[in-house]
Amino acid sequence: MRVLITGATGLIGKELVKLFLKNKHSVHYLTTSKSKTEELPGSTGFYWNPQQGKIDESCIYGVDVIIHLAGASIAKRWTPAYKQEIIESRTLSAELLYNLIRKTPHQVKQIISASGTAIYPESFDKVYTEDTTETEDSFLSQVVKKWEESINRFHVLGLKVCKLRTGLVLSKDGGALPVMAKPIILGMGAVMGSGRQMQSWIHIDDLVRLYYRAAEQQWEGVYNAVSPQVVSNAVMTKSIAKVLKKPLFLPNVPEFVMKLVLGEMAYLLFSSKNLSAEKAMADGFQFRFTNIDEALRDLYS
Ligand SMILES: NC(=O)c1ccc[n+]([C@@H]2O[C@H](COP(=O)([O-])OP(=O)(O)OC[C@H]3O[C@@H](n4cnc5c(N)ncnc54)[C@H](OP(=O)(O)O)[C@@H]3O)[C@@H](O)[C@H]2O)c1
Repeated sequence: MRVLITGATGLIGKELVKLFLKNKHSVHYLTTSKSKTEELPGSTGFYWNPQQGKIDESCIYGVDVIIHLAGASIAKRWTPAYKQEIIESRTLSAELLYNLIRKTPHQVKQIISASGTAIYPESFDKVYTEDTTETEDSFLSQVVKKWEESINRFHVLGLKVCKLRTGLVLSKDGGALPVMAKPIILGMGAVMGSGRQMQSWIHIDDLVRLYYRAAEQQWEGVYNAVSPQVVSNAVMTKSIAKVLKKPLFLPNVPEFVMKLVLGEMAYLLFSSKNLSAEKAMADGFQFRFTNIDEALRDLYS
């Protein structure tokens, strides 16, 4: 199979490219940096600029599956201009792909897109499945709705559409974990707020295996990409400290303090998402990491 991956140079994309190549598949990828078109060995990079509507059309040649990971990071201060970039980097890029497929002869059968868990309502005890129609009204929830709408359109072109609503991705190389671990390593770690907020997480190896499975078996619809064992912020913080063999003695950090420091982005630390992993498992996916201590030990070993 040949896959075309957007955002392939990022945290998840780099690992995903390696997995497809290891299994002898062909990888094309799109990057917004001309200098990165040669960055991923064994695969072929193509330049695009979704903001300007530019794309190297030869990227689609021979492609069976598109995997859409591209998107501006949500871990930067949410100014009005940057909020717009968070949305457009996901939707304009999807639109550019849509127009390419619409007007070019192709053999693409499926698009799989990253998506977020922010669409679900806040929850401590209630576990949400992919079937829920309740949604939240936060900025990130709006992002996810627009992002998924831009992907759903591919149905019209006869493609299978799959969306992986991804929890907190645990990796040593980037994303939330190094940010959470840094103060702990410095002896300044603390639980956020009450610490009761639930954090639906997934080990990066399981996430890329999930993308791979979704492509291999042509999954359709929404899947929660989260491990089956959701933990609270307190449990996760204590687990990181335990695995790193660091003490945790500072008092919990109140939400208003983090709001002063991070602004609206503090949402990322205090929102509570309790999601079910049942659907992926019912479709035959076996998680390697279901226990937070084991996942962290694996990453830091
Ligand atoms: N990591 C997580 O915990 C997590 C959780 C839930 C969902 N997700 C979603 O999964 C996707 C991949 O996540 P990641 O952690 O791998 O992200 P990442 O490391 O930030 O990589 C994202 C990639 O998107 C491309 N990109 C950045 N800004 C862009 C823009 N303005 N327009 C077009 N492309 C742009 C970049 O590739 P080029 O520089 O090569 O263009 C970048 O390498 C993202 O959409 C993210 O929101 C991630």
